[in-house]
Amino acid sequence: MNAGLEDVVAASTVLSDVDGKNGRLIIRGSSLDDLVTNDRYENVLALLFAGFFPQTPSLPAALGAARAEIFDHLTAVDPTLLTLPPVDAMRALLARLDDGDDLSAALRLVAAPAVFIPALLRLKAGKSAIAPQPASSHAADTLRMMTGDIPSPEQTAALDRYLVTVADHGLNASTFAARVVASTRAGLTSSVLAALSALKGPLHGGAPGPVLDMLDAAATPDNAPNWIAAELARGERLMGFGHRVYRVRDPRADALKSAVRLLAGAGAIDPARLALAEAVERTALDQLKAKKPDRPLDTNVEFYTALLLEALGFPRQAFTGVFAMGRVGGWIAHAREQAETGRLIRPRSLYIGPQPQAAA
Ligand code: COA
Repeated sequence: MNAGLEDVVAASTVLSDVDGKNGRLIIRGSSLDDLVTNDRYENVLALLFAGFFPQTPSLPAALGAARAEIFDHLTAVDPTLLTLPPVDAMRALLARLDDGDDLSAALRLVAAPAVFIPALLRLKAGKSAIAPQPASSHAADTLRMMTGDIPSPEQTAALDRYLVTVADHGLNASTFAARVVASTRAGLTSSVLAALSALKGPLHGGAPGPVLDMLDAAATPDNAPNWIAAELARGERLMGFGHRVYRVRDPRADALKSAVRLLAGAGAIDPARLALAEAVERTALDQLKAKKPDRPLDTNVEFYTALLLEALGFPRQAFTGVFAMGRVGGWIAHAREQAETGRLIRPRSLYIGPQPQAAA
């Protein structure tokens, strides 16, 4: 038995390969580095979906139309929903979508986080939701629906780069959850709901909010070493470091660091915040190495995600929802692949409870 299923291969996939030894991520034959440099999210989505749906429309236009369609679902928002954290409110809205398995159902699910998260943030703040512009890119439209302003090219590129970076990542916990549900032949909405529920935990997609909490608590570059030492002495885990598969630096951390630099170059990130983050990263790496010399613990995707999403104006409570905005493409492609080529996923458990008493 292997409680965390480490090293267990539970699916074969054409979608992505996480090479933990060499710190490489391949998505359908392209390296992450190439994709973040050359492709926008819509292209990567088309790459992930290729062959899993019979129709192949122009994806940017079809996704824009899906955003417009999803906007109408905001009529379901009620005051109770607005008391929930954004990711939970979004999950409730997603649960109302038709549980189909065709391309239109898939595109509605991809559009949903991009429309629901900005709208929920505005509604929670007592403002009205802003309707999508179907001709905009997915990233630019999301930022405009949140702030009401046209984002700068650097802001759009930074969010786009983030979405590409997190679009797919092997059999991570949320993708596995999506595949388990798809293996029962339930629809795509069911798979996405299961995946989203897995994503929100702090050991998976819930980490970047706590990364900012850590930066706040460390407060200044000078204070960072003492604060980190105290956390580690208490047995706490440092958010944004370590990974189940990567034994070297997570390649996604570098992809996002370059997007953060793009924002910095355009004056769209607070330099003091960036300097604090870099100091915390350096100190954390040094102290983790000293504490666990045999266990390589390096920066993961969540560390620079936190800085990037904060600089783009997303509140930390919304970070998991923005992660879902990118990863939903991967979840859907995996769900389709599982339903088409996989078996019902049904492992066994080892019973360690008591046996019934023999009759007297
Ligand atoms: N900070 C401090 N110590 C850490 C650590 C971190 N971020 N990540 C792992 N460790 C320590 C563990 O406490 C453990 O120590 P122990 O052997 O004394 O108990 C050792 O390193 C091995 O950890 P393990 O739990 O086997 O690693 P894992 O593969 O299960 O964990 C994560 C992977 C991602 C869950 C883990 O690194 C973590 O909790 N990171 C922080 C949360 C985070 O950033 N999540 C986003 C992931 S993309």
